[in-house]
Amino acid sequence: MEDIKTIEWVNGKVRILDQSQLPEELVLLEISDHHGIVNAIKNMNLRGAPVIGIAAAFGVVLSIWNAGESDRPGFLGKANKAIDELKATRPTAKNLFWALERMRNCLSGNLNKSIREIKSALLKEAEKILSDDIKTCKTIGKLGAELLPNRANILTHCNAGSLATGDYGTALGIIRAGVEAGKKIKVYADETRPLLQGARLTTFELLEDGIDVTLVCDNTAAFLMQQSMINMIIVGADRIVRNGDVANKIGTYGLAVLARHHNIPIIVAAPLSTFDFTLESGRDIPIEERAAEEVIRCGSKLVAPEDVKVYNPAFDITPHYLIHSIVTEKGIIKPPFFENIARLAKNKT
Ligand code: MRU
Repeated sequence: MEDIKTIEWVNGKVRILDQSQLPEELVLLEISDHHGIVNAIKNMNLRGAPVIGIAAAFGVVLSIWNAGESDRPGFLGKANKAIDELKATRPTAKNLFWALERMRNCLSGNLNKSIREIKSALLKEAEKILSDDIKTCKTIGKLGAELLPNRANILTHCNAGSLATGDYGTALGIIRAGVEAGKKIKVYADETRPLLQGARLTTFELLEDGIDVTLVCDNTAAFLMQQSMINMIIVGADRIVRNGDVANKIGTYGLAVLARHHNIPIIVAAPLSTFDFTLESGRDIPIEERAAEEVIRCGSKLVAPEDVKVYNPAFDITPHYLIHSIVTEKGIIKPPFFENIARLAKNKT
């Protein structure tokens, strides 16, 4: 994925790779106002917890980029309104709220400056959120790769790769770093119904990088494990709370239960920006429910009666006691998670 950027700031606009079109078409979207970012996040033209946060940060910049330099209350009102609208796009990924909090703090920390200076401070902050995320992914990759045996058959779910982050990825970052370290890695990618992030995105980016990947239907995972074809599961996360419970793409909990039955470690890879130190248990995490359309259609094809009742939660909660370890940029957290996450919260800066 070296030449393709998931997201970048280009001449007063945000350029994103439209993930909803992959792998059929490589389409770049140029977004010039924050409503465009709101829609891109809601419609999942771009998705994945870290990159949602990055896009939202740039969205704040877009909201004031062309504002005049004399109306101060109007300028601040625009930025604050945009932050609120961006917050209301998707409820589960902590990174979204974390990035918007950073932008709000940047705004309030620069109130004594001119509008021109505030604009440039906000852009600098958004660009730093992006560049820090790439560094963070590389560190997660390096640390996590040490957990991999020299020969690893890894199952992953959804897409926690370059496309879900500034670059490199979290779960896929560990796989990339393992490959770079010379380990022999074979990846199985769950297709990840209903939106097929595994089939469309994970296989796309691993093939681009020449990494051995095999696509399986979601319901093949149990059989793979029973056949001893998997020795590790690595996934990303949308929100991790104080007791170590993890919200991630729907289906992750099922994999964790299967992993326990088959005695396979499940590893979660996530930056600190995914941690919610204010919530104690996974029960408190808001779980996004998405439209029935996503389930009753596959692409444009109807795959169920149009008027059937549908339940479509986008995420589930994996309880901490099923998780082997959580790889962050500050180190690998092992059980007891409550104590070890509390220590991380204390030392996070
Ligand atoms: O609904 P999505 O595609 O945004 O869900 C993405 C996931 O569940 C990822 O695993 C998670 O955001 C981590 S991405 C590094």
